[in-house]
Amino acid sequence: MKKRIYLHFGIAFLLPLLFIFSQCLYKDKPADPRGSNYAGSASCIKCHRDVYENYLHDPHYKTSRLASSNTVHGSFNPGLNTVAFNDSVKVMMEKHHNDLYQALYINSVLTKKERFDIVFGSNRGETYLYWKDKELYELPITYFLSIHQWANSPGYNGNFVDFNRVMGRHCFECHSSYIQDIPHTASFMDNTEWLDKNSMVLSIDCERCHGPASEHVNYHTQNPDDKNPMYISTIGSLSRAQRIDVCAQCHSGNKSVLTRSIFGFKPGDTLANFKEGEYFHKKTDLASIDVHGNQAELLTSSQCFIKGKIECGTCHNIHNDKVETISMYSLHCTSCHSEAKHNFCKMASQLGPAINSNCIDCHMPVKTSNVIVINEKGLPTNPPFMARIHRIAIYPSESKKIMAWLKTSPVSAKN
Ligand code: HEC
Ligand code: HEC
Ligand code: HEC
Ligand code: HEC
Ligand code: HEC
Ligand code: HEC
Ligand code: HEC
Repeated sequence: MKKRIYLHFGIAFLLPLLFIFSQCLYKDKPADPRGSNYAGSASCIKCHRDVYENYLHDPHYKTSRLASSNTVHGSFNPGLNTVAFNDSVKVMMEKHHNDLYQALYINSVLTKKERFDIVFGSNRGETYLYWKDKELYELPITYFLSIHQWANSPGYNGNFVDFNRVMGRHCFECHSSYIQDIPHTASFMDNTEWLDKNSMVLSIDCERCHGPASEHVNYHTQNPDDKNPMYISTIGSLSRAQRIDVCAQCHSGNKSVLTRSIFGFKPGDTLANFKEGEYFHKKTDLASIDVHGNQAELLTSSQCFIKGKIECGTCHNIHNDKVETISMYSLHCTSCHSEAKHNFCKMASQLGPAINSNCIDCHMPVKTSNVIVINEKGLPTNPPFMARIHRIAIYPSESKKIMAWLKTSPVSAKN
């Protein structure tokens, strides 16, 4: 009798242990939240080490990550960690143990404090999100890398500290690889979305651009001698429109409405099946371009696209980490436009040799963002986010400025 009880106890004791053990095994290779047809970037290293290591420096890779002292680049040191909205209202960036916070003080009284949970952005600015149960919100202060300063987040009213800007799944569709939404019945006024923290795949990973690749990985693991790419789209063999759509899923602005989630977009798909409205050849209002730039719409409205064969890949190579200078970019122009082909710049004789080092500043001028409000005393009022206009065209007033600048700048004439 006694023995049997022991036995039962034994099983009762062992079962949870077995369960925990199986969970540990499971955790070794967690299933990809996107489904078993996804292999995850780590599995690409074995056969594509160079591409992978190179990619760790790419802004697409860095564009979303968990917040920590290593991934948030603004200063938490006294004197550098404060954004004062006026004499009585200020936000301080604070570090407590391993966590980072934005804390609002009104007349020196702590009024609100939220944690940095997720970082978005890598190049020009970092904006931060915090979890409130299943909901995500943007923190009011952004770090601007170009000026090395904290300031009001883009699009925020400069006179008011707002912790209540809801962040939805849509941000993740362009800045990450996946997040699952949780259906919930929201009231009419409620614009929050519920998101599943555990389903989050941060960073724009390999399969976001190349499509699900677990079959590719399995095949090549089992057939190491086959050097033909199997079960993976060859981007080079797609049509030009399909290739541009690989980029346009995220680079055609964020104003139009998605009819299906672009998390499901794969190379070879047509963006029009996901997004309301065509972007090809549409003339975007240049005044409305912002940090959420619309390179695809602008490029496809250029004559170089309509009459020529230009595409994103003419000038940008995701897997090449060498820094392209303006004169290097200009070489792409002169591969189609030259004196010999009788389609060269009409300004060539006025500019002399200097022309070859810079087609860009006159024909793809920089435009500054106009929605970023900076309200701190002493901070520059010029917004720091800039965008290259991707409609290649003739911009007479920009050209006049560059002409004047070239005349006073002997250095560029020598380049
Ligand atoms: C077991 C080896 C192996 C693994 C793992 C592997 N690949 Fe490949 N992959 C190959 C081989 C072989 C080729 C064909 C030769 C080449 O292009 O390097 C290839 C080619 C490719 C190509 C080029 C297709 C083209 O345009 O010609 C892409 C894109 C690609 N792999 C993506 C991935 C991604 C993404 C992963 C990770 C999810 C991955 N591969 C993991 C072996 C592998
Ligand atoms: C899943 C969305 C997504 C896709 C697909 C995508 N991009 Fe991007 N791209 C982004 C985001 C987000 C950024 C901003 C990254 C940052 O700095 O945080 C970016 C930044 C860039 C930059 C600026 C990087 C730099 O060095 O300053 C270039 C150029 C670019 N993308 C080109 C492309 C091209 C070409 C393609 C198609 C092959 C493409 N992107 C596909 C989302 C995407
Ligand atoms: C339709 C795609 C899309 C959506 C949706 C989107 N972004 Fe972006 N975002 C981009 C692209 C592309 C860039 C690269 C800048 C450019 O195009 O000039 C960018 C740039 C940024 C940057 C600056 C990054 C840098 O360092 O250059 C931040 C910060 C940012 N986005 C935050 C957000 C937040 C927060 C949301 C949600 C409210 C969001 N984005 C939604 C596509 C998108
Ligand atoms: C932002 C989109 C994007 C991301 C992210 C991306 N790629 Fe690519 N990849 C491309 C494009 C576009 C090409 C085609 C370039 C061409 O044909 O000129 C390409 C080409 C390739 C090739 C074949 C050519 C070569 O350079 O060897 C391989 C292999 C590859 N990618 C693997 C990967 C792996 C592995 C990752 C993740 C570490 C990754 N890619 C992430 C867009 C992307
Ligand atoms: C004719 C060459 C050319 C083509 C084609 C081109 N770009 Fe660019 N792109 C540039 C130049 C030049 C810059 C500015 C680089 C710099 O200032 O360092 C740039 C910058 C960018 C940036 C950084 C943000 C900005 O506005 O500075 C993104 C994002 C980008 N390009 C995406 C794309 C996408 C997506 C396509 C295809 C729809 C594309 N580009 C096609 C030349 C080109
Ligand atoms: C793939 C080839 C190709 C590339 C690369 C290219 N173009 Fe063009 N571009 C064309 C073609 C084709 C036309 C139309 C010419 C015509 O109408 O005869 C054109 C037209 C133009 C025009 C006249 C635009 C107008 O609205 O009248 C300008 C200016 C121009 N290109 C400048 C540039 C610059 C600057 C670059 C580099 C940033 C560049 N192009 C890159 C093929 C190209
Ligand atoms: C200082 C500014 C400036 C620079 C630098 C410049 N362009 Fe131009 N470009 C212009 C202006 C302005 C026009 C229009 C001239 C006119 O119609 O009289 C023009 C016209 C053109 C045209 C249209 C010619 C036609 O037949 O209508 C092309 C193509 C072109 N440029 C290409 C280039 C290329 C390629 C480069 C670099 C090698 C370049 N441009 C550098 C200002 C510039």
